[in-house]
Amino acid sequence: MSPTSVQDQLHAMRHRALAGLDDAAGLAAITDWERSFLGAKGELTTFLRGLGALSAEERPLAGRAGNALKVELTKAYEAKRTTLAAAALDRRLDADAVDISLPGRRPVFGGSHPLSQVIDELSEIFALLGYQTVFGPEVETARYNFDLLNIPADHPARDVWDTLHVEAAEELVLRTHTSPMQARTMERQPPPVRVVVPGKAFRYEAQDASHEWMFHQLEGLAVDTNITMSDLKGTLAEVARQLFGPARKIRFRCDFFPFTEPGVDFAIDCAICDGRGCRVCKQTGWLELGGAGMVHPNVLRGVGYDPDQVSGFAFGLGIDRIAMMRSGLDDIRAFAANDLRVLRQFARVA
Ligand code: PHE
Repeated sequence: MSPTSVQDQLHAMRHRALAGLDDAAGLAAITDWERSFLGAKGELTTFLRGLGALSAEERPLAGRAGNALKVELTKAYEAKRTTLAAAALDRRLDADAVDISLPGRRPVFGGSHPLSQVIDELSEIFALLGYQTVFGPEVETARYNFDLLNIPADHPARDVWDTLHVEAAEELVLRTHTSPMQARTMERQPPPVRVVVPGKAFRYEAQDASHEWMFHQLEGLAVDTNITMSDLKGTLAEVARQLFGPARKIRFRCDFFPFTEPGVDFAIDCAICDGRGCRVCKQTGWLELGGAGMVHPNVLRGVGYDPDQVSGFAFGLGIDRIAMMRSGLDDIRAFAANDLRVLRQFARVA
């Protein structure tokens, strides 16, 4: 081959290559282009491989020109590929565009249930009086729900609790009160004890505006040396004042609970009418809040405490009652009916 024809050949190849690259419209097209000129079997590669066959005088010239063309085509290819890739990205971004003028979706915020609000508030009040808040199981054994509370298996007092049974064989019940946590707490630690236990309790009762199968109690237990009935009264009076204002009075009346001696029921004077009598207190001037008493020696003995060394008081506060007075809802069933129109009026966003 004469030097001129080698030059011509390269010249023609350059021309075709650059025109082809110009025409290549997409990434697929330039990949083909790259293969046919610069690839292992491409035209230019084949030319460079064939240099050995040229004469000694032609070879350097052809080699230099061929390599220069390789550099030029490689650069042109890279530039074109960058341009095409950028254009492809632009197209994809255009297609994916987010319409920032669309209004967003409002997140739904939960709020705390009126019963949870009362539980939180009571826990806080009792924390200031030195009580720890603890929780217990809703499915209980008869041992904790009854036996350790001085209610033996064949004793008629058991019937008072309208028990829902879960498993007859194992004597598993839905706890009928939060009192089982008295024994569970004392078993776990030596005296002194100061705990409150908020939670659900269950009784198989006829339902009406003030009775549900499920309701909420807050159990309180204080055991220490020299605890007396006046500590119980002072504590409940203080809680009543924290809840319903400084003027509240507390009333005890005799009552019977197998796990207390003596036992009482307790009420506060109605905060709505100041004790004069109104619809809320059913004209009595008093609002019944629960049962209480001094812990029965048998209960202390049952958990290994010595009734000659320590004494204590316990109480069970009706939480639903307080929440009803707080919210003005006059039907306990509204709390668990899950009607958002009702609950939203009282939900407090944390
Ligand atoms: N557990 C009793 C009830 O549910 C209430 C109570 C608790 C009474 C503690 C006395 C002491 O009826």
